[in-house]
Amino acid sequence: MHMEPRPVSFSQTTLTELMIPSYANFGGKIHGGILLSLIDKVAYACASRHAGTYCVTVSVDGVDFLQPVEVGDLVSLHASVNYVGRTSLVVGIRVIAENVRNRTVRHTNTSYVTMVAKDDDNKPTAVPELLLENEGDARRFLEAIKRRELREQYRDAFDNAKTRLDVPHNLDKLARERCVIGFDGDV
Ligand SMILES: CC(C)(COP(=O)(O)OP(=O)(O)OC[C@H]1O[C@@H](n2cnc3c(N)ncnc32)[C@H](O)[C@@H]1OP(=O)(O)O)[C@@H](O)C(=O)NCCC(=O)NCCS
Repeated sequence: MHMEPRPVSFSQTTLTELMIPSYANFGGKIHGGILLSLIDKVAYACASRHAGTYCVTVSVDGVDFLQPVEVGDLVSLHASVNYVGRTSLVVGIRVIAENVRNRTVRHTNTSYVTMVAKDDDNKPTAVPELLLENEGDARRFLEAIKRRELREQYRDAFDNAKTRLDVPHNLDKLARERCVIGFDGDV
């Protein structure tokens, strides 16, 4: 079935939520899990708008919380489809925290969520192509391809290194680390 390509603007979604005291951790800052949940929700809404179907989360990249989010901040998550494959979509999410009293705004992180569209039988189903309307749309699409290639290379290299990792012959590397070997290692 042919589907008309859909522009990025068709599915762009913003989710805004006030950070209330019950979202705080023991240090008084917002729990990372609250932000992850909001990232997942906005990714779902954006991907499903583009696909026109139910979508599931496959992976999340780039969740680095470099600045804390405070109780009382108004957090906005701006989501847009950056890339589509046959059944998968990558949604880019820019997270902004606003101090509502002095109106200062911080960019806290940008994450990339891969979602897969599912049909009524829970099988992956094809999504419409993405209509790239400007150079920015094309740049984000190309960046998503690059990110996927690098992720695949990293996964292969890590799997390879893991299978070749000889623990007894590498225990000396732990001497400089902040750990104590509490078993009889053949060092
Ligand atoms: C993700 C899932 C649909 C893949 O199923 P599958 O039978 O391997 O399907 P396919 O091989 O046809 O892959 C479907 C798409 O997912 C993509 N995909 C699969 N694994 C992936 C991964 N680890 N990272 C990124 N994309 C992935 C494939 O590239 C493919 O994309 P494309 O159609 O655009 O080329 C399946 O594993 C699933 O349903 N997982 C559970 C998801 C879920 O429930 N999430 C909620 C979290 S609790």
